Amino acid sequence: MRILMVCLGNICRSPLAEGIMKDKAEKSGLEVVADSAGTAAYHVGEPPDQRSMEVAKKHNIDISNQRARQFEVRDFDAFDRIYVMDKNNYEDVIALATSTEDVEKVDLILNAVNPGENRSVPDPYYGGKDGFDKVYSMLEESCSAIVENLKKETT
Ligand code: 4NP
Repeated sequence: MRILMVCLGNICRSPLAEGIMKDKAEKSGLEVVADSAGTAAYHVGEPPDQRSMEVAKKHNIDISNQRARQFEVRDFDAFDRIYVMDKNNYEDVIALATSTEDVEKVDLILNAVNPGENRSVPDPYYGGKDGFDKVYSMLEESCSAIVENLKKETT
């Protein structure tokens, strides 16, 4: 299973989602390739935000080797599932889709926990550190649900 996590800048939320997904997949023995990207190019080539690296580290996850990149149309072919953080990311990604198959790959990550509710992971960039703790716990819960569902699908 190839999973892409997408946010706006690819420095705060989606790098965390990528790191958490890799950690959980490894611990549960699932064959998952995880990556992340941003819909915008502002931070291309940069490491994750310091606050994301810190909250990940608190949970023994190292995301410091990640570098931001922009979402590309070819990601629709390179990945099986594309999890976006918020409704703007959803609109921006869907605008690049060229088939219904592409569209069906995309979902808001919180729908893994609250199916059909279309909730957004809030952008923590302009807030304080507590925002990053909150984002971490939302993504942790979502990635757990995704991994549990994958386990069911593969058995
Ligand atoms: P992210 O957060 O989408 O979770 O990576 C943001 C990072 C940077 C900006 C916005 C959101 N920015 O405007 O530079």
